[in-house]
Amino acid sequence: MIRICSTEDLPKGTVVSADVDGTPVALVHAEDDAFYAVYDECSHAAVALSEGEVEGCTLECWLHGSRFDLRTGQPTGLPATEPVPVYPVEVRDGDIYVSLTPSNGVTR
Ligand code: FES
Repeated sequence: MIRICSTEDLPKGTVVSADVDGTPVALVHAEDDAFYAVYDECSHAAVALSEGEVEGCTLECWLHGSRFDLRTGQPTGLPATEPVPVYPVEVRDGDIYVSLTPSNGVTR
């Protein structure tokens, strides 16, 4: 797993973009207090999801408003219909680590 940042750098309800070995990742501190990582591009068009809004356990694309469930990567509403890759996240000693093997089997 690759260390991204400290939990203190990512307050609840916020998202940051990270380049993880060349893969753009949106790292989210969701409103359920868990941390999630998804591929940082909407499955509808080439827009960074990290520029969107955290809503509960979803990340909303700012362009057309599709929301992606951070646990499954599935869009909860149109216009996106395809899931985005979800990456495993671990918190150890106050640091956030991500693995680039998608936990939902979706690859790019
Ligand atoms: S680009 Fe994200 S919903 Fe259209």
